[in-house]
Amino acid sequence: MATPVRNIPAHGGTLVNRVLRGAEREQALKRAASFPKIILSEVAISDLEMIAVGAFSPLTGFMNAQDYASVVDKMRLANGLVWSMPITLPVSEEMAASLKVGQEIALAEPSGLILGTLRLSDKFGYDKRKEAVNVYRTDEEAHPGVARLYAQPDVLLGGEIALLNRPSDITFPTYRRDPAEVRRLIVERGWRRVVGFQTRNPIHRAHEYIQKSALEICDGLLLHPLVGETKQDDISAAVRMRSYEAILSAYYPANRVLLSVYPAAMRYAGPREAIFHAIARKNYGCTHFIVGRDHAGVGKYYGTYDAQLIFDEFAPEELGITPLFFEHSFYCRRCEAMVTSKTCPHDNSEHVFLSGTQVRAMLSQGQRPPMEFTRPEVADILIEAARADKQGA
Ligand code: ADX
Repeated sequence: MATPVRNIPAHGGTLVNRVLRGAEREQALKRAASFPKIILSEVAISDLEMIAVGAFSPLTGFMNAQDYASVVDKMRLANGLVWSMPITLPVSEEMAASLKVGQEIALAEPSGLILGTLRLSDKFGYDKRKEAVNVYRTDEEAHPGVARLYAQPDVLLGGEIALLNRPSDITFPTYRRDPAEVRRLIVERGWRRVVGFQTRNPIHRAHEYIQKSALEICDGLLLHPLVGETKQDDISAAVRMRSYEAILSAYYPANRVLLSVYPAAMRYAGPREAIFHAIARKNYGCTHFIVGRDHAGVGKYYGTYDAQLIFDEFAPEELGITPLFFEHSFYCRRCEAMVTSKTCPHDNSEHVFLSGTQVRAMLSQGQRPPMEFTRPEVADILIEAARADKQGA
């Protein structure tokens, strides 16, 4: 008899749940009204929710000085568990000076709505340049992750959190599922091997090719587009979601794909973010995770396969999710198929390759990129969005 389908354990062993409900929530809300209040940035709002729902398990709060230093230096929490990105709560020096360690603090969104609470365990200064160099591999402000880091206030607050309210402008509610819900659906569908796919782009043919290659050896695909804060020139999440719905309904078997949003902010930290993305997707129940070319990269800051090489720095069991690496893929006219340099012997002249700039130019002129690059259903949505953008501008 086949063994029952079970979810993979969360990172660190237990799926964190710090979402208060019912009477406990009511009481916490009443108490929080008298706490000092911090207004969170968009990134902190998303981090708070991601911690609370267990997407960032085993984190139970914003990092204290020990974990922060260990993550920046060694890509591990102070207890040795692999963790590659600092998850921090920056506040101004004046705000920090007004708070006492041990105190409870209300965490609110700009509207004033209290989202959660933090029990302050630590407040500490930090070296932004060091974080930039270690985490982003550059100290240049032209890097969007580094620019965000340099612009944030100078003191970090550490401590455990609880979530009392979801952020008020929740986008894509039907596709917004906490890790526990995704895990439940995985079991319900009977998927043992589940591959996660991170993206901040529409699905072009190369994405489709690597997803379907992975699906050949897995039971299900979690299409998990990031919908938290991205840089301005990335395609908006609303347009991307329409394009995902279009391509899924036309080209993917419905019983093999789960589309769900990943409400975290993009960091553009390339290799370190690939590890972070993989661990978070393990928390959502994925057993495998796709890392292609220049994963989570930006500009020319990272080598094409740096985000794959970084996985060699950890023993597989320390990560607990299997990365699936894919080379740069494209269409070859001679092969009449999607290929990579591993599978195609032909010259570059046979390959359909378009840069992001070329694609943007075509779309803004109302031109569909070749169907070897993008499915027409996706192209039409992107053309329509480019037209609306122009009219709005
Ligand atoms: S990312 O910032 O979220 O990584 P993107 O949405 O472009 O950006 O990529 C999603 C995933 O597809 C990443 O794992 C990336 O490495 C991979 N990928 C994107 N384009 C290609 C390509 N042409 N060939 C192989 N992998 C690719």
